[in-house]
Amino acid sequence: MGAYSPYQHWRLDIDAFQIACVTLDRQGERVNTLSMAMFEEFEALLTEVSQQSLKGLILLSGKDTGFVLGADVREFETLETREAVTDTVRRGLSLLDKLEALPFPTVAAIDGLCLGGGVELALACDYRIAVDKPQTKLGLPEVKLGLYPGLGGTVRLTRLIGGPKAMELMLTGRMLNAKRAKAAGLVDLLIDTHQSPLWQARRVILKKRKSRHPTALAKLTNSAPARSLIAPMMRKKTAEKARREHYPSPFALIDLWQQHGGDAAAMQRAETEGFAELMLGPTSKGLRRVFHLMEGLKQQGKNADFRARRVHVIGAGVMGGDIATWCASQGLEVTLQDRSLEQITPALVRAKKYFKKRLKTPLKVNAAVARLQADPEGEGSARADVIIEAIFEDKDAKQSLYKALWPRLQSHAILATNTSSIPLESLREGLPEPNRLIGLHFFNPVSMMPLVEVVYHAETPPELLARGAAFAQQIGKLPLAVKSGAGFLVNRVLAPYLIEALSMHKEGLSKEDIDEAALRFGMPVGPIELADVVGLDVCAKVAETLGDDAASTFVSDYVSRGQLGKKSGSGLYDWQKGKAVKADCSERSDWSALAQRLVQPLLDECLACEAEGVVASPELLDAGVIFGTGFAPFTGGPLHYMQSQQQGEKP
Ligand code: NAI
Repeated sequence: MGAYSPYQHWRLDIDAFQIACVTLDRQGERVNTLSMAMFEEFEALLTEVSQQSLKGLILLSGKDTGFVLGADVREFETLETREAVTDTVRRGLSLLDKLEALPFPTVAAIDGLCLGGGVELALACDYRIAVDKPQTKLGLPEVKLGLYPGLGGTVRLTRLIGGPKAMELMLTGRMLNAKRAKAAGLVDLLIDTHQSPLWQARRVILKKRKSRHPTALAKLTNSAPARSLIAPMMRKKTAEKARREHYPSPFALIDLWQQHGGDAAAMQRAETEGFAELMLGPTSKGLRRVFHLMEGLKQQGKNADFRARRVHVIGAGVMGGDIATWCASQGLEVTLQDRSLEQITPALVRAKKYFKKRLKTPLKVNAAVARLQADPEGEGSARADVIIEAIFEDKDAKQSLYKALWPRLQSHAILATNTSSIPLESLREGLPEPNRLIGLHFFNPVSMMPLVEVVYHAETPPELLARGAAFAQQIGKLPLAVKSGAGFLVNRVLAPYLIEALSMHKEGLSKEDIDEAALRFGMPVGPIELADVVGLDVCAKVAETLGDDAASTFVSDYVSRGQLGKKSGSGLYDWQKGKAVKADCSERSDWSALAQRLVQPLLDECLACEAEGVVASPELLDAGVIFGTGFAPFTGGPLHYMQSQQQGEKP
């Protein structure tokens, strides 16, 4: 094989069969993303191969992290005008067209992750091979950045696998494993891990194999009558999940397909125009900011190489039970302690249900069940690398537990509390090594909420804080270092918002209207429903700790009647089958004024937290509030929202 590589990001080898093996290997990066520099070289490479008489071309990745993970999102931020976006996109498009038009067969060999622009690149080839292994996943997640595929993906994917299947993939941003990608028609051939992708791709070319897609049925689904029948259904389904004014891209994608689905050239032109509009619009800017913020949070977990094997959780209630379940599902050995076995059993039953839903195969479910052990005597605390306390929100109870626990702990073990509101400074009083206690504050429901606040105070050793963050990262959560103080960050900013909602309710506004105003603003759940989900007992404690007597008394009335919210089946709402029973909202025209009134106290508190340095930067504050409260992600976070309001932009 003759090696030939005048390129930085690509390698071109022409083998003895006269097949060009083109390897993508972006210089200086751990993963392949498509950058402008890569495209420039690709142009030269395509010109070079098109001048040779070849039997075929194989596209491979030189990274063990996968094929291509999409376009380089960092470069999006340099494109500030419509012309800049459309020019750049058109340059990329002409390359993919050139690849598609090569006079010999082209095969993409996908081994590992293949996302966004990576799929679009593979779609410009004649044939796609994928290695059948868990790491191989194909998807078009552009909607998550407020976009849709812009490198011809909307045209080529709908053409290849038919409108409905293609649209479902692009509208949800869902990833398919290799088998599902094959079943969908996105991949033509699956190979085993012991087979060489390069050799299998060579066989495809030498044996002149052809893709069987698109099928006649797929073609039919793109016909005008089919589109006009299916598109409204897609619109309805999408509207159940997202509002057009907040998330325009899925709706724009449906419009694009409905209007141009049968005509590749027109669809391509409209794709580019629409892509530029989305890219420069506020939603995509906000969501791209969220993407960068998430990267910033992940960075916080990389400052220590601590790895836990065993975790001991104390308190098998709502939080402790779910934290233990989560840790076991992430592969850790977990012991779960409560006052008696009776209190632990419901958590184990819940855990098994969760494992079945998430891990699916009996082998994995049984392994996870075996990793999670009831431990009423608390023996696991002596072996654990991390001990998480999640008992009642009561300072004295927590302190006496730590004292009893202390002699058993291993010297390297992290001792963490999941308290939602009690400052570390007061919890650590009287402990033999008071600086050893940190907070690992999870949110409810644990499996859904990505953030963990890693709480520290002035005397916490930085290395311990880094280990706490590394642990959160290890279990797949986003760690955020937060200075100890009443309510830390998330509850502190959430509390005035919930309290405002409660006082609006006391003034006579219906719960449903208050929640609807928040949903219209872009919150994932309304504040009244959220209070019920968190638990009114927890809310009462938080309000008490934050010194809001009126709110605390209002909520405590419910608590004293046993109405704790979702967990007791009744709270501010009644709950049936895990859902709040809601009446219809009123007809009103002042939704945005209502939302503004609700959100203002949260925004004010964010400014106060920023001024006090509760987290290290405004970006981390926005990240924490988005991932901890679900604050309307498309706004880019509360501080960013305020800034864009001041600049007169729509969020
Ligand atoms: P919970 O009332 O559901 O569970 C508490 C559990 O602790 C009970 O099972 C109880 O039997 C057990 N327990 C009490 N004293 C114990 C002891 N000495 N030894 C062993 N077990 C003991 O409470 P929940 O809601 O799970 O809250 C636990 C902690 O998590 C609290 O500090 C709370 O502030 C915090 N938290 C709660 C959130 C929520 O949404 N519920 C969210 C984030 C934090």
